[in-house]
Amino acid sequence: MQFRRICATDGPALREIRLRSTTTDNTAFGIHRDQLQALTDAAWTDLCLANAHEASTIVVAVAESRIVGMVGCMHDPSPKRHHCGIVWGMYVVPEYRGFGVGRRLLDAIINHGSSINYMMLKLSVTTHAGEALELYRAVGFSTYAEEPAFLCIDGITYDAYHMMYMYPRK
Ligand SMILES: CC(C)(COP(=O)(O)OP(=O)(O)OC[C@H]1O[C@@H](n2cnc3c(N)ncnc32)[C@H](O)[C@@H]1OP(=O)(O)O)[C@@H](O)C(=O)NCCC(=O)NCCS
Repeated sequence: MQFRRICATDGPALREIRLRSTTTDNTAFGIHRDQLQALTDAAWTDLCLANAHEASTIVVAVAESRIVGMVGCMHDPSPKRHHCGIVWGMYVVPEYRGFGVGRRLLDAIINHGSSINYMMLKLSVTTHAGEALELYRAVGFSTYAEEPAFLCIDGITYDAYHMMYMYPRK
């Protein structure tokens, strides 16, 4: 298993795993499958490039020549928000779950945030996503707010926890 930052040629593989995440775990993600399917090949490449070298990043887990896990961390362009990274898109394909892939992906994001001197990371997770909640708690995230009806899918609403990870002061 290789853990690395996304690169320019990962567009098709990123598309594949993002689409799969909305098939296996649709209620865990804010983005709609139609939005993903509407993206052109060039847009997927641009997404990879935007997360390959700058403060925003996507870390992927690669096995058997394919991406089997991913997590993103978005850097807000406003200098007033440079203290905080937003974690998104945490996903491990079902056949690779329970082997520590998710934890290693999240560790990589925490290390990335440390290298650019974030004070904190934040994320949102639907309340019924038990495995993700346990993972976030296990690496040191805590809940600071709960939001009712964070998502609405086919008329059913899903609440969310907003969680944060505080870096130790340097
Ligand atoms: C959440 C997810 C990424 C975890 O990936 P994973 O590779 O299976 O996780 P790991 O094997 O690294 O487990 C790390 C920790 O997560 C927690 N965890 C993982 N699977 C769990 C399960 N089935 N039950 C309870 N806790 C679990 C545990 O705390 C575990 O630590 P431990 O092994 O020391 O007990 C994966 O289940 C997933 O993709 N879920 C669907 C998508 C999702 O909910 N994403 C979150 C969007 S906010």
